[in-house]
Amino acid sequence: MASTGQTSTTVNCPVCGTSHVPVSSCANGVQAATCVSCGHFFKFRAVEPLKSTITLTVNGKQYTVGNEYGPSSALNGFLRDQRISVGTKHMCYQGGCGTCLVEAKLFEPLSENSLSYAVNSCLVPLYSCDGWEIRTVDYIGNLKKGLHPIQTQIANYNGSQCGYCTPGQVMNMFALTEFYGDTLTKKQVEDSFDGVICRCTGYRPILAAFKNMAKGRSKCSSSTVGDIEDFKTKVCKKSGKSCSGRCSSVSEPLTHLVFADSQWFRPNTEQQITDILNANKGKKIRFLLGNTAHGVYSDQSPDNYDVIMDLTSFREMYDISFDTDIVLGGGLTLTMLVDIFTRMTQEAPYFGECANLLKRIANLPVRNRATWSGNLMLKYVHRDFPSDILVLLQVLRARIWTDFDGNDVSISDFLSTDLTGKLVFMFSYTELDDVDHIKFYKVTPRVQNAHCYVTGGFRVRMDKGSFVLKETPVIAYSGIGAQFDRAIKTEAYLNGKNIADATVLKTALSTLAGEIKADSSPVLSSATYRTNLALALFYKFVLNLVGVEAGLPYRSGASELYWTRPISSGVQTYDTVPVEYPVTQPLKKLEANAQATGEAEYVDDMPAYPGQLEAAFVLSTVGSATIQNIDSSEALKMPGVIRVITAKDIVGTNNWFLPGPPAREMLASQKVEYCGQPVAIVLAADYGTALGAVYAVKVTYSGVTKPVLSLDDAIQQKSFFPKQCDDLVVGDPDGAIAQSAKKLSGTISMGHQYHFHMETQASVCVPKEDGMDVYTTTQWIDFAQSSISQVTGMLKSSINVQVKRLGGAYGAKITQNNWIAAACGLSAFLTNRPVKLRLTLGDNMKMLGKRYPFRADYQAGFTDAGQLNAVKVTYYADCGVSANDNSLPSMQTWANNAYACNNWSIDCVAVKTNTPANTAARSPGSLPAIFIMETIMEHVAKTVDKDPTDVRILNLFSNGAVDPLTKMPLTDCQLQTQVPGLMSSVGYADRKTAVEDFNKTNRWKKKGLSVVPLKFGIDWRGVRYGSQVAIFWPDGTIAITHGGIELGQGVNTKAAQVCAYELGVPIDLIKVKATNSNTTANSITTGGSITSENVCAGVIECCKVLNARLAPVKAKLPDPTWPNVIEKCYQDGIDLTSRYWRNPAQSTPFQYYSYGATVTEVDFDVLTGEHTIARVDILFDCGQSTNPALDVGQVEGAFVMGLGYWLTEQLRFDPETGALVTDSTWEYKPPSSKDIPVDFRVNLVKKNPNPAGILGAKAVGEPPLCMSCSALFAIKHAIQAARKDIGKDDTYFPLNGPATPEMCQLAFLTDPSQFTLTVTR
Ligand SMILES: Cc1cc2nc3c(=O)[nH]c(=O)nc-3n(C[C@H](O)[C@H](O)[C@H](O)COP(=O)(O)OP(=O)(O)OC[C@H]3O[C@@H](n4cnc5c(N)ncnc54)[C@H](O)[C@@H]3O)c2cc1C
Ligand code: FES
Ligand code: FES
Repeated sequence: MASTGQTSTTVNCPVCGTSHVPVSSCANGVQAATCVSCGHFFKFRAVEPLKSTITLTVNGKQYTVGNEYGPSSALNGFLRDQRISVGTKHMCYQGGCGTCLVEAKLFEPLSENSLSYAVNSCLVPLYSCDGWEIRTVDYIGNLKKGLHPIQTQIANYNGSQCGYCTPGQVMNMFALTEFYGDTLTKKQVEDSFDGVICRCTGYRPILAAFKNMAKGRSKCSSSTVGDIEDFKTKVCKKSGKSCSGRCSSVSEPLTHLVFADSQWFRPNTEQQITDILNANKGKKIRFLLGNTAHGVYSDQSPDNYDVIMDLTSFREMYDISFDTDIVLGGGLTLTMLVDIFTRMTQEAPYFGECANLLKRIANLPVRNRATWSGNLMLKYVHRDFPSDILVLLQVLRARIWTDFDGNDVSISDFLSTDLTGKLVFMFSYTELDDVDHIKFYKVTPRVQNAHCYVTGGFRVRMDKGSFVLKETPVIAYSGIGAQFDRAIKTEAYLNGKNIADATVLKTALSTLAGEIKADSSPVLSSATYRTNLALALFYKFVLNLVGVEAGLPYRSGASELYWTRPISSGVQTYDTVPVEYPVTQPLKKLEANAQATGEAEYVDDMPAYPGQLEAAFVLSTVGSATIQNIDSSEALKMPGVIRVITAKDIVGTNNWFLPGPPAREMLASQKVEYCGQPVAIVLAADYGTALGAVYAVKVTYSGVTKPVLSLDDAIQQKSFFPKQCDDLVVGDPDGAIAQSAKKLSGTISMGHQYHFHMETQASVCVPKEDGMDVYTTTQWIDFAQSSISQVTGMLKSSINVQVKRLGGAYGAKITQNNWIAAACGLSAFLTNRPVKLRLTLGDNMKMLGKRYPFRADYQAGFTDAGQLNAVKVTYYADCGVSANDNSLPSMQTWANNAYACNNWSIDCVAVKTNTPANTAARSPGSLPAIFIMETIMEHVAKTVDKDPTDVRILNLFSNGAVDPLTKMPLTDCQLQTQVPGLMSSVGYADRKTAVEDFNKTNRWKKKGLSVVPLKFGIDWRGVRYGSQVAIFWPDGTIAITHGGIELGQGVNTKAAQVCAYELGVPIDLIKVKATNSNTTANSITTGGSITSENVCAGVIECCKVLNARLAPVKAKLPDPTWPNVIEKCYQDGIDLTSRYWRNPAQSTPFQYYSYGATVTEVDFDVLTGEHTIARVDILFDCGQSTNPALDVGQVEGAFVMGLGYWLTEQLRFDPETGALVTDSTWEYKPPSSKDIPVDFRVNLVKKNPNPAGILGAKAVGEPPLCMSCSALFAIKHAIQAARKDIGKDDTYFPLNGPATPEMCQLAFLTDPSQFTLTVTR
C-alpha cells in the first residue's frame, strides 16, 4: 500500500502489547519498530495517519484499548473480565441465547444519527467498538442508585425465576424503548423478544410486563429517523447512479492494530480499502461487519485470519438509493433493511414481502448487527449455509457490486464468480411493477430465531386476469442442498403458462420434484421432508396467487400461521387468604430486583482469585474405543498452559459418583464409551488458552467401533443393563386382556431433552489452609463434597461447598455438576491454586446426559365403551452408558396417571447406548409415564371410535378410590368434577363443534383440541434438609440458612414468607443466605418439586423453637416490640439461633397427590407441518398456594418447557462417531417467545388446602409439565382430521415426541399429487 507520507509515530508491540512503540519508516511505506519493553523487532506496512488504539465509552466512561487483546476478543469478555459489567451475562457465544445483550448507539443511515440497538456482546469484536457508546444492565439501574422502570417492571411481574436471562430481557427492552420512545407499541414488543431465551418462565410474564409499558403513541413529526424520500433524488457523481451522497464523506485516520499473527484494519475510504487489499494479496482476509457469522460457523472467528478488515466505518457501505434501480449498500444491517422495506411498503406491497422475510432471519439483536452482504458471503464460503438472503436476492434478480467502480455480477452467477480480493459493496435491482408478484415462505423447526428447514422465494410476472405468466418466473430455495437454489427447469416450463390451470400445476410440481436435489446429513431434517416442503411452498404460492378463486377447501393453504398469530395474552386466577399474609400472598421473589439489575451473582460472576487457573475438558471424539495414548506435549508448549491432567494423575479414586456401584470414571482411563467423554483436563492461565489447548492434546484410540445410538438399535441388540426394579404385576392383566371385548397393542417413543439451563455447569475451587472452598452449580451440595473427597482423597469435612443460586438446573445439576466439581477440585488440589472450570455450551451438551428417551410397548384390554380392564407395558429407558440416574422404579407409580384400571403389568428395561449417561430432567419418570398412558387412552378411543376426551372422562379415578399401583386411597381426588368443570368453563363443547366445522371446510389448515387430566404423586421419602434461623440483636433482623438450593423456584422467598408468618415480623427483616455444607450438612438434593415445602417445614420448626424461647421474655416486657424482645433475649443470654433437621416419615409411595387438567387448542398447517398453540387452559391443584405468583410462574414455565420437549427440541447424532451434531443454539431449539400459547390461562384450584402438605400447600415444579403433552395430542387430532380428508383415518397412528414440523408433516402422509386447485371462474 502506498504511504501518504504522514508517518505514524506509535503502534503497539505485537508480542508484549506495550503501547507507543516508536516507529521509523523504511522503503516503500514499510514501517519498522523495536519494542521499548521486550525488545521485539517487527515490520509492517502502514496507511497513514494511523490509529493504533480504539476508544469506546461504556456507561459514560471512556476506555482506550491497544492490541493487548486478541482480534477475536469479544466485547462481552472485555466487560466481564475488566469487571466493567458482570451483570452482562454470557452463555452460548453464538447470538442464540441473548443473555449477553447490551445497548449500543450505532450509526443509522436514514437519520445519519447514532441510535440505540440491543446487540449481542458475545459476537461484537472488541476492536470494532471504536467510537461506540455502550450501556449495560447494571448501569441503567442498580440496587444502590435505584432500579430503572424496566427493571422494576420485570421484577414486579415475576418475569424472572433463575434470573440468568433477565439482564438480556431488560437490555432488549431498554434498547427498544430508547429507539422508539413513546411510539413503542405492544405489537413491536411482542415481535422483538425472539433473541433472549428464557427456560424458566415460559415468557408470558416477561411479555406482559413489557407490553404493559408500551405507550404506542403515534409518531411525532420530529421523528429521529430520516425520511426515505431523501434518498430518491441524489445521484452519485462517480457512477452516475442515484445514491445517498455519502461518498468519502468521512476521512478519519485509518485504525491499524498489529497482533502477533494478524493485523486489524478499520478503513474509512475506498482508497484505504484498495491499498490494504493490494498490500495483502494472497493473505487470508476476513471482512468484518457484524461478525455474526462467527455465531454460526466457528471458522469465521477473526483469529483464523491474517488480515481483518472492519468495514463498519466506511460510510459508502450504507448507501441507499431509489431510482429506476434500487441500490442498497453492503453495510446495511438486516434491521436497517427491514426498516427501509417497511417504509416503502406503502409505495408497493412487494416491499412488505421482503421485509417479512428479513424479519424472520435470526433474531432482533443479531439482525441489528448482521448485514445482508455478510450473509451472502457466508453462503459463498459455506455452500451448506441455508441463506435466506440468497433467496431474497434471487427473487429480486439482484446484481451484486463487487468493486467500487460499479462492476457487478448477477445473483444467479454470484456463487460461481471468483471473488478473490473483492468485496461485496452494494446490491441493485430494478423496481418491480404491478404485474410482478413475489412471495417468500420460511419453515423452521422453531417459530422464531431458527434457520429454515426450507425457505422458498417465488416471483412471477402475471396477467392477474388470465393467470398467464408473461416471463420466466423465479423459483428459489434455501435449505435444500449446497448445489440447489433455483428450480431452473420448472421456471422454464412455466413461462407463458396459466399457473391456475390444474394440469399446468401438476406438471410444474412433477418437474420441480424431478429437479430438486436434497442433501442428506446427520444434522439435517430428512431429504423427503425438505423435498415435500419445497413442493408444498410452491403450491402455497400458487394458491396465494389464485386467491379466492382457488376453491374453498384449498384456499386455506395460502396463508401462513406465522403471520396470522395474534398478540399473546394470559389470565391467571387463584385465591389468597389475606389474614395469613405474607403466607398465600402473591409476593415477588426476594431476589427479583438483583436479578433485574444483573447484580445477582452466579458462580461465573465471582471475581477471579489471585493466581486462578482456568480448566477445560478434553473430550473424546469417538463413540466406542480404547485409549491408546494421550500426548499432551504440544499443548504444554503453548504459552499459558500449566498442566494437563489425565486419569493417571487422580490421587484418590477415579470415581466421581456416589459410593457404591456403578462407579463413574472422572477421566476415561482405558475405554471410551461415548463421543464427548472426558479424557483429560487442561489447566491454563486464562480461559481462551485452556479452550484452545484442548485441541493440542492428541488422543489416539484403538478398536474404534460404530456406536449404538438409538433405542431401537440397542433393543434389537439386547444392549441392556441389569434389571433396575422388579416387574410390577397387579391383578391378572393377561386374563383381563384375554376376556376383554376389545384389545390393542402399540408402541410409542419419545426423545432426549437437553435441560438448556442458561448458566452452564461451573465450579470454582480454592485451596485453603483447612482444605478447599468450593463454589459450584450443584443442586446437591453433599454429593459435590463426596465427589471431590473421592477423587482427591481429602476428608469430606475439609471441603466447604457453598451455593448462592443456580442459573437454571431442571435436574441437570443434581448429579452431573458434581462431575465438574470433582474435576475442578482435583485440579485445584494438584496445583494448589484456585481453579475455575466452566463448560462451554458445546461441551455441556456433548459431555453430559439429558432427559431419558423412552420407548414403550403396550397392550390394553377394554370394553366396547372404552373402559379399561387391563394394561401391560414395557418401558425401555435409554440410559446412555450408565444407568445411575434412571427413574424406572418410580415410573411404575405414575403409570396409570388419572385412570382407574385394576389389572396391570409394568416391566422396566434399562437400555445401554453409546451416548452420555442420561440424568434427571424436570419430571423425569412422571413425564414419560403419563405420556405413555395418555397415548394408550388415545389408542383406546380410536379403537372404539369415540372422542378421546370421552374415553378419558369415562376412566377417571373417583374420589376415595384406591390407586392399585400405590395402594393409596385418593382422598381428595376431584377429577371427576374438575375435568368436566374445566371443559365447561372453557366452552369445550362449542369449541369442539367449531373445530369440526373448520376442519370440514379447510383442506390445508386444521385445528385440534385435546384434554389431558393429571394425577401426580408427590414423594417425600428420603427428604433430609437442615434449616437454621438466626435472629440478630439489637435490630431484630433475621437470617435463614437452609439445605435447599435456590434455582428459580422461589424456595428462599417461601422460606422467608413462612418465617415472617411464624415469628410475626415483616418480611423485610429477613435475609436468606447461601446454602453451605457446614450449616446444613448432609442435606439431600433439591429436586422432585418437594424442596420448597420441606424447607418451609424446617423453617417453621425453627421458628416454633424460637417463639418458645421468646415467649417468656415477651410476656414480661411492658413494651414487647420485636427489637425490644430480641435485645432483652440477648441480654438474658438466650440462644437466638435455632436449627431443625427435616426427615419426615412416609410409609406410602407418595405423601399426597395433586391433580389437574389442561385443554389445548392448536392451529395446524398441513402443508408445512407447522402449528400455533392457539389457547391453553390449565387447572392445577396447588393446595392453598404459599405464593400464588411464584406457583403460577412454575406452572407456566413447566408447561412451556414441556412444549419444547414435545414439539421442537431434538438431538441428532453422527451415526459413525456418535458425536452430537445438535450441540449449539443454531441447531437445538428450546421454545422461544412465540412458541407459547397465544392465549395462556392458568387457574389454581381455589379453596383447596392440602391437609397432608405444609401450610395447606402442594408442590408445583414438576406436575404441570406432565400435561404439556396435550399440545402434541391436539396436533395429532389435527393431523387425524387431515388424514380423514384423504381417506386415511381408518387406523390409529402413533405420534412420537418430539412432534416437530418435520414429523407432523410426514405423519400427515403428504403426497404432492394432492396439491391441486379448482379455479371457479
Ligand atoms: C443466531 C443467528 C441466527 C441466524 N439465523 C439466520 C437465518 O435464520 N437465516 C439466515 O439466512 N441467516 C441467519 N444467520 C446468519 C446471519 O444472517 C449472518 O451471520 C449475517 O448476516 C452475516 O453478516 P455479518 O455482517 O455479521 O457478517 P460477518 O460475520 O461480519 O461476515 C461474514 C462473512 O462474510 C464476509 N463478508 C462480510 N462482509 C463482506 C463484504 N461486504 N464483502 C465481502 N465479504 C464480506 C466475511 O469475510 C465473512 O466471511 C443467523 C446468525 C446468527 C448468529
Ligand atoms: S452469549 Fe451472546 S447470545 Fe448467547
Ligand atoms: S429466568 Fe429466564 S432463564 Fe431463568
